[in-house]
Amino acid sequence: MAGVQASAVLRAGRWLLPLTIPVCCVVWMLLVFSPPTPELDAGHRQSFHPSDQRLARAQKKPAAVADRCAARYIYVQDLPSRFNADLLRDCRSLSEWTDMCRHVANAGMGPRLTRTGGVLPPTGWYDTNQFTLEVIFHNRMRQYGCLTTDASRAAAVYVPYYAGLDVGRHLWGFSNDVRDALAEDLVGWLRSSPAWAAHGGRDHFLVGGRIAWDFQREDGGEWGSHLLFLPEARNMTALVLESGPWHVGDVGVPYPTYLHPSRAAEGSSGTLRDSVIDQCARSRRCGLLQCGRGRRRDCYAPGNVMHHLKSAAFCLQPPGDSYTRRSAFDAMLAGCVPVFFHPGSAYTQYRWHLPADHTRYSVFVPGDSVRNGTVRVEDALRRFGPAEVAAMREQVIQMIPGIVYRDPRAPSTGVQFRDAFDVAIDGLIRRVNSIKRGLPPRPDDDDLRRWDGYFDMR
Ligand SMILES: *[C@@H]1O[C@H](CO)[C@@H](O)[C@H](O)[C@H]1NC(C)=O
Ligand SMILES: *[C@@H]1O[C@H](CO)[C@@H](O)[C@H](O)[C@H]1NC(C)=O
Repeated sequence: MAGVQASAVLRAGRWLLPLTIPVCCVVWMLLVFSPPTPELDAGHRQSFHPSDQRLARAQKKPAAVADRCAARYIYVQDLPSRFNADLLRDCRSLSEWTDMCRHVANAGMGPRLTRTGGVLPPTGWYDTNQFTLEVIFHNRMRQYGCLTTDASRAAAVYVPYYAGLDVGRHLWGFSNDVRDALAEDLVGWLRSSPAWAAHGGRDHFLVGGRIAWDFQREDGGEWGSHLLFLPEARNMTALVLESGPWHVGDVGVPYPTYLHPSRAAEGSSGTLRDSVIDQCARSRRCGLLQCGRGRRRDCYAPGNVMHHLKSAAFCLQPPGDSYTRRSAFDAMLAGCVPVFFHPGSAYTQYRWHLPADHTRYSVFVPGDSVRNGTVRVEDALRRFGPAEVAAMREQVIQMIPGIVYRDPRAPSTGVQFRDAFDVAIDGLIRRVNSIKRGLPPRPDDDDLRRWDGYFDMR
């Protein structure tokens, strides 16, 4: 299903495939073992005690007590069920090829993985479909510690519309009118809601668990809906799996992976890192992490995946049908250093979730240079000595908590780690603050501009 995200293909990544086989040999040479476990960003976790801030209490806090939710309140639009719950109820119609009813279960995480070779942690692993982000996000929002029923106090307004599940039903074999119907219905509903008026919807955001391309049909186009081109949506922010190069109002957030811990230390022993790396390293089922079930072409490594995990320093992430691929996140979960061939595969996408300095956690090899034969991937990777690779791998591992989506059903009591949702909400609130103050939604960033040459700018 991932392979058919965009029929009008942005970039063909196939040319890289023949090149990846020799690279495996290099990869196997670079045996890397990580230094001892650091405490995973323990300093940050103190700041988030959702249980203290549940809605009811927050509403009647005495004025004298400093409000921990100040400038962090989120108001959730109370949408009619046709925009969310009904899509789940009618899950049979969500995909012709995939049983989405399985995948929307468990708050959007999908079925639990149990027969995992007996080595994965007993909890936290799910057969998660990449298109269920909207459901996971909505359920995480229900646990958000700073919800408010007073829109005028809100830093941002969440629109729990399952945009991707909606359009996903109609991508193949439907008219544009059918594809757009619910999106147009939505913006009409929003415009007439009381919360819209204060900022013309510019404090509103929604989540689309697909690439922006699927919501950006131009006039005369034949793919996707035109949701993000509707005037109302242009005022809003859309969190998507891959933003378009022209960034209408769409911001990239991580693909959901198979891991959804409920706490930093899932289970009784060790940290999240232990559960991911060590336990995974001993499990055959880690093939799941590396290759996306049974899709060998995403795997790029010969032989047994357990060996791969321990020995592969680098995981190649050539663009597929679009710039990004979920496997980049799956690979990072396995502690593998991603190698990107286009800045659109990560650096211009996940600015809230990945370090600005991409050399700390990844390798960039310009795809064009590989294509015209001036650079060999193998040579590019051989430049890195074991210590450099170990440092990058360590950085990748430290990034894991911030790129996974916590189990949305987990009680928000006690000290929690900051997951991809928390990071997204922080970024979103900063963005909406800028917009409200009449500033650009994102800083004019030289660091980003340097990549402009890699995109066909309009
Ligand atoms: C978008 O925001 C602007 C500025 O607040 C506002 O004037 C305009 O009416 C909004 N558009 C819609 C469709 O509400
Ligand atoms: C190969 O591609 C790179 C990157 O686009 C370019 O700088 C270089 O000049 C090209 N070399 C040849 C021989 O085409």
